[in-house]
Amino acid sequence: MHKPRHAEDVTPPLVLNGAATWRWYASFLRDPLACFEAAKGRLPPITLLQNPIPFMPGGRRFLFAYGADANRFVLGHPDLFRSGGQVLVGPKDSAHYRLRRGIFAMNGDTHRAQRRAMQPPFLKPVVATYAPIMAQLIDDVLDQWRVGDTLDIYREMRKLSNWVAAYILFGSEDFHESVRMGETIERWLLLDTQARSSLMWADLPGTSYGRLLRQAEVLETAIKNAIARIRRGKMDGTDALTELIRSHDSGTTDMSETDMVAHAVILYAASFETTANALAWTLYLVAQHTELAAELCREVHTQLVDWPPEAEEIERLSLMEGVVKESLRLFPPVAHTLRTADGDAELAGLNLAGGDKVILCHYLTHRDPDVFPEPNRFRPARWRATRTDHYEYAAFSAGPRICLGMSFALLELKLTLARILQRFRFRVVPGAAIEGTIQLTLRPKSTIPMQILPLHDEFAASPVVGNIHRMVDTT
Ligand code: HEM
Repeated sequence: MHKPRHAEDVTPPLVLNGAATWRWYASFLRDPLACFEAAKGRLPPITLLQNPIPFMPGGRRFLFAYGADANRFVLGHPDLFRSGGQVLVGPKDSAHYRLRRGIFAMNGDTHRAQRRAMQPPFLKPVVATYAPIMAQLIDDVLDQWRVGDTLDIYREMRKLSNWVAAYILFGSEDFHESVRMGETIERWLLLDTQARSSLMWADLPGTSYGRLLRQAEVLETAIKNAIARIRRGKMDGTDALTELIRSHDSGTTDMSETDMVAHAVILYAASFETTANALAWTLYLVAQHTELAAELCREVHTQLVDWPPEAEEIERLSLMEGVVKESLRLFPPVAHTLRTADGDAELAGLNLAGGDKVILCHYLTHRDPDVFPEPNRFRPARWRATRTDHYEYAAFSAGPRICLGMSFALLELKLTLARILQRFRFRVVPGAAIEGTIQLTLRPKSTIPMQILPLHDEFAASPVVGNIHRMVDTT
């Protein structure tokens, strides 16, 4: 039986049964963000949801947990808590089933070996070499902006994130094809979310589930074609897909052709939406915090002399570091994650059995007032004094499965923000409805409309409506 290191320090868990369990599930399925908000300050760090159908044999219990202790125990012991289950499984002989079996669904030695094989393009020194091309792609997007435009900044950041992911992950040889592949993956993820919430998981005409399975077939074929095209060429690309093919073809890993296709999809899926969301929320926060925005502009203008900068120059921007960290604290794109107990374990005095599920809520972990005073406030300066480990601040998760693309994401976020501040000022359209939602990731529900202004304009906060006011205090 495994126990957390300081089991005696853990606040006693709450146990929910019967109708209370059903109410919790209904609220979580209907609107996970509202469910987390409702739990804030009300639920202890661990809540056990008993099997809602007690007479159902094999029914699973769920543990809803937040905080560093639960993270340390669950994420720190990947051999006790399996990853997987983030997307619908699909029929065993389907393309969807094969595609979802990438790195996220792997565990144990297989996960360790394949993660190692995937790692080279994401090591920090290699990521630093992407700075010039990222900078170029960012400028390509910003070149389309005109002072006086009103743009949906969320849409723009999705475009930017798609271009960067497509170029660096799938290669530049046929950039438009890489971008289309990204869009095909985007659609597949969207259909997965729609199919999941429809609760109608039968392959029937007109259902989102049926469309999901067809989309997976299209996607699998597109990736296989791209792999075939790369193999027909010189195989000298520095993109992640070529690296994966090299790793597979070297025969030094157990990576099958099917694994490789699934990894390619997962890499894009893991990188695109998370980064787009983070960028959109960060721009929103900067636009609405005018003093901070002015200070950040000063830092960028005085310290970034050349464009494109070296990755180390970007890293030296200390306020920028705080802004990005604070934005990911308030709006962690991966707001919660799921693990399944592999065997017996004890957490906070609760005996878990193999098959029990654990939902780790990073959204609430990041709003612990003991670790982050005034947790609903956007205060980048707090990071000058706050020292946390990845279990307390889990935007990129923690432990052996920590985000493989963390350095990549941080470079892209900081470069983009810096370049926008070098070229424009921006203001949220007054009266806009700013709503967040959790659909796999924590994202804006629809748009974040912003006016694009000339550099000599001042930042000015705008009144807005929507559930944004529950997520962050701006008064
Ligand atoms: C702001 C952007 C990003 C955030 C907040 C983020 C966050 C995370 C989190 C929380 C996990 C763990 C998920 C879990 O355990 O359930 C994760 C895993 C992962 N991320 Fe990211 N990510 C970001 C960007 C990226 C990028 C740019 C890439 C690749 C280019 C990437 C690749 C991956 C991969 C491959 C994994 C799986 C690692 C494993 O299971 O060993 N991520 N990410």
